[in-house]
Amino acid sequence: MKNLKKFAAVILSLAFVLGALTACGSGGTIDTTANGEPDTSAAEEVKPLVFGTNAEFAPFEFVSSQGVIGEFDGIDMMIAKKIAEANGMEAQINNMEFDSLLIALQNGQIDAAIAGMTVTDERKEQVNFSIPYYTAAQVMIVKDGSDIAKASDMEGKKIAVVQGYTGETVVKELGYEYEAFKKGTECVLELVNGKCDVVVIDSATAATYVADNEGLSIVEDSEAFGEEQYAIAVAKNNTELLEKINASLEKMLADGTVGEIAVSYIDAQ
Ligand code: ARG
Repeated sequence: MKNLKKFAAVILSLAFVLGALTACGSGGTIDTTANGEPDTSAAEEVKPLVFGTNAEFAPFEFVSSQGVIGEFDGIDMMIAKKIAEANGMEAQINNMEFDSLLIALQNGQIDAAIAGMTVTDERKEQVNFSIPYYTAAQVMIVKDGSDIAKASDMEGKKIAVVQGYTGETVVKELGYEYEAFKKGTECVLELVNGKCDVVVIDSATAATYVADNEGLSIVEDSEAFGEEQYAIAVAKNNTELLEKINASLEKMLADGTVGEIAVSYIDAQ
């Protein structure tokens, strides 16, 4: 009985220490000022900047045990963290379906969406976009030895795309039949298992899949697939935040920060 009490006391004090540790952890990134002096007031002052994303899109956003914002890692997550910091805020991530991001912006659930999101006219009707920070293009992932060498070779083939991605729009516009899946990983699994012939998806993400799966290769067709610009989306009425994001992005593009971040994640593949 006595031992049990002792045991309970140890567990209790352990829980207390752990609780105190995690409490410090959440504010741990903001406990110094620019000149390195401890800043005792910062803990209460730092406001969250809530970014929505869909962490199914390496190298831009993915879940990792060593994420840069909690469990979230990738080029976009690093950019989000730096934008928040530059504005005296703390980046937080709300991970959701890609299709839900614009609605989440409109109803105020998130402050900004950073998700390798391509600027399109249709999306521009619903939200405002920052200045672009990355140029991408759609590409085709095929099995090694495939006879698909250009976009028009996809005619009559089994095509997989991710629902709601610009890859879907592009294939639809080309007029080909396709099957839409919820995630890129599902498309790639179909391809690996021989259930489809080609996956159309963004270039850098395609490169990640090809690096992670034997026997796949990328086919480009710059005539069929135009350039796409990734930008951060904010609600139409939030021009104040848009200006802050643009100022930070502009600086990070000019001084090479964005380029360095992109290279560090893309080279790590
Ligand atoms: N660039 C494409 C688009 O805007 C795909 C983006 C997917 N991003 C994501 N985080 N799942 O539709």
